Amino acid sequence: MGIIIAPSILSADFAKLGEEVKLIEDAGAEMLHIDIMDGHFVPNISIGPGVVKSLRRVSKLEFDVHLMIENPERYIEEFAAAGADIITVHIEATKHIYLIIQQIKSLGIKVGVSLNPGTPLDLLIYILQELDMVLLMTVNPGFGGQKFMPEVLPKIVALSGILKEINPDCKIQVDGGINTDTARLVSRAGADILVAGAAVFAAPDPQKAMKDILRAAKEEQ
Ligand code: DX5
Ligand code: ZN
Repeated sequence: MGIIIAPSILSADFAKLGEEVKLIEDAGAEMLHIDIMDGHFVPNISIGPGVVKSLRRVSKLEFDVHLMIENPERYIEEFAAAGADIITVHIEATKHIYLIIQQIKSLGIKVGVSLNPGTPLDLLIYILQELDMVLLMTVNPGFGGQKFMPEVLPKIVALSGILKEINPDCKIQVDGGINTDTARLVSRAGADILVAGAAVFAAPDPQKAMKDILRAAKEEQ
């Protein structure tokens, strides 16, 4: 699998969510990034499993559910039942990361763990072998449309090196402030999956925007 873009519906028009998803699916997207926020782990509130379930009926995309919620263990089953293909939890949001990883895997779906910009890679040492994906936040989580933090680039490079040794199948996803310029930087650093919200859905032509970001990322590989 080469580098891919996972458009984030956080910046889509929620009044016509199904159409927005279809738009990027028709343009060749493979993965849909779905941001879940609880007003506790992050200040913002977004959507719950009900919306995921409704979208599941109208889309064949791989559903990549990014849980920005406290105590995510309480909601894993619900999101899996709603149609998640990958569930990503924040390591900062739980005392029981290993338990959650086991819980997600037992449901037969892929598991991701996310790190905020200030959270060190060291916390992954005893779980890295278990993961399908690591999500490195390139903004402080909570809102779409924020500015990319170049400070995270060395962390992507470091993780990429570690994964080559320990778990070469594990993907590096980046999330926050990705556009055609920053896509080049993260691609060069070693990212595999680029989440893009505002740069896709707030663009006049989301299909073109998605393709432009992908092209830029691929040029750096
Ligand atoms: C932010 C979310 C992101 C967000 C990215 O906390 O996790 O997925 O939608 O949006 P952009 O690409 O606009 O920074
Ligand atoms: Zn996200």
